[in-house]
Amino acid sequence: MNNIDGKTRTLGLIGNPVEHTMSPFIHNLFANAMNINMVYVPFHVENGYLEPAIKGAKALNLLGNNITVPYKVEVMQYLDEIDKNAKVIGAVNTIHYKEDKIYGYNTDAAGFLKSSLKVGIEFEGKIVSILGAGGAAKAIAAVCAENRVKKIYLTNRTVEKAEALKNTLQTHYPELNIDVLDYNALLLVEEMDICFQTTSIGMFPNVEASPITELNFLSKLKWAVDAIYNPSETKFLSLAKSQGVKTLNGLGMLYYQAVRAFEIWHGVTIPEEIIDQCYARFTQYVYSR
Ligand code: ATR
Repeated sequence: MNNIDGKTRTLGLIGNPVEHTMSPFIHNLFANAMNINMVYVPFHVENGYLEPAIKGAKALNLLGNNITVPYKVEVMQYLDEIDKNAKVIGAVNTIHYKEDKIYGYNTDAAGFLKSSLKVGIEFEGKIVSILGAGGAAKAIAAVCAENRVKKIYLTNRTVEKAEALKNTLQTHYPELNIDVLDYNALLLVEEMDICFQTTSIGMFPNVEASPITELNFLSKLKWAVDAIYNPSETKFLSLAKSQGVKTLNGLGMLYYQAVRAFEIWHGVTIPEEIIDQCYARFTQYVYSR
């Protein structure tokens, strides 16, 4: 436990609900490893109370907050500056109170990129598909665009949301080659390097569900990536693995968005060996519960 004294800085997660969050575990682990005098706690903010919560956090000299469901979009109107990633994604997950201003960031994209690079996923020139068009899909699509994939195929149950994501991306990346497809058309695409699964299908307790079961499609892939981390191997990933495809789950994305947020708040770079040591502790914490 941290040694709290008169110089301890306070940070925390604002959302509703927040009771299942793992962010306090991660950030307090980093604080100990980096010897930074801070504490990170959950803040359950009732609907209708976001504005006073943000103003109160600033008044109380908090250093920063993470923002989660349902406030990632609403919070944007209370900020002074918003970074490009957050604008492309249309959501803020990290805010920093600094010199009387409130800065907003989206570290999901950086987290996803780092988690992917760590295992050797390459983006440039690749043909990719993204299943889903929610928050995780937006961050992943932004990374794909920024890192010059050759083509994005986007599939979502609600087609309008996929079209909206396509339009936003094309506003920021006019050169981007992106198509919205329905599920059956996606299965017929001949060349596919990576499939990013971002829907909630397959998440605990519905562990037998998978948005794609066609082995013919999965066997084309070099990588299958799932934004879900519980279970650690979704049905989608296990089917892909059975075809010799490399797989990655969503735990790294969650972890590395926290790394990036921590670095923004404290103006530090966490050394790679500390990142790896803390990740091992975090993995153990998540999967032994
Ligand atoms: P996250 O922040 O994890 O991305 P989200 O923003 O709520 O969560 O997005 C959930 C995604 O899963 C959406 O793409 C959603 O599809 P819709 O846009 O049609 O709602 C998708 N999804 C959730 N349940 C689904 C289901 N049973 N079948 C197909 N898609 C589903």
